[in-house]
Amino acid sequence: MLGHDEKAETEEAVLQSFKLKGHAIDLYVMPEALFVPNAVSRLFSKIVEIRPGDLVFDVGTGTGVLAIWAALEPSARVCAVDPVAEHCELAEQNARLHGVDHKLDVFHGSLFDPLPEGLKADVIIGDVSGIADAPGKALGWYSSEVPTGGGDGTEVITELLHQAHRYLAPGGKLYFPVAVGLSDDDKIMQAARECFASLVRKVDVWFPLSDEEYEIVSCCLPPALLERVQRKGSRMAWNGHIYEATEPKPA
Ligand SMILES: C[S@@+](CC[C@H](N)C(=O)[O-])C[C@H]1O[C@@H](n2cnc3c(N)ncnc32)[C@H](O)[C@@H]1O
Repeated sequence: MLGHDEKAETEEAVLQSFKLKGHAIDLYVMPEALFVPNAVSRLFSKIVEIRPGDLVFDVGTGTGVLAIWAALEPSARVCAVDPVAEHCELAEQNARLHGVDHKLDVFHGSLFDPLPEGLKADVIIGDVSGIADAPGKALGWYSSEVPTGGGDGTEVITELLHQAHRYLAPGGKLYFPVAVGLSDDDKIMQAARECFASLVRKVDVWFPLSDEEYEIVSCCLPPALLERVQRKGSRMAWNGHIYEATEPKPA
């Protein structure tokens, strides 16, 4: 049984293959109901560095793609977290499929809340929801089952940034995404600067929108955000960043 609510119970999980850095990962996903890994998931795998013996937290694991990727790297242990019960169930199933369930534990809950007391990570992958509610839902990227980043897309990421210092080992690294134009990126970066002394932009990519997608986005974004969605060649596009944050500042 994959889910608790009616929609998830009537959905079929399907097996899809995803190419991440160094590993092809087959995952059971539910495209209609749950989050499906995308280009941003792949970009995280390109830039996250995992050293032998690292403890990795994958916060916002979805169906487990980056947690499984991290478990296939030379990490010692991976703890994955998601607030959607059906994501957690599929992430566990997917971890068994890849034979990494001995080193990957999945926790149901928000951010760091469900993790065992006292654990500190060498690497935190913080691929949590960072798209504002209206475009996230209107574009079909987030189903009603999956929480978005709230009204301006910042709610989950800024909370992650504020809490992360308590869960990073000395020298540890936090990776987090910023969707420029589809969230209030200034607010996210202000929180990032308040919380970390070192921020390095590791990914800076423009994602084209179809004409139909741009029309949807222009109907639901406030003008101050919409002006950051720019023309690149023949298409309008939004700008995706991924940052590596180190040297957390004391609270
Ligand atoms: C952009 S998706 C990424 C999922 C996955 N990393 C991937 O690449 O497929 C964001 C994920 O963050 C999760 N999320 C939303 N709010 C969260 C919270 N408060 N704590 C942890 N995860 C959260 C969502 O359920 C969703 O699975």
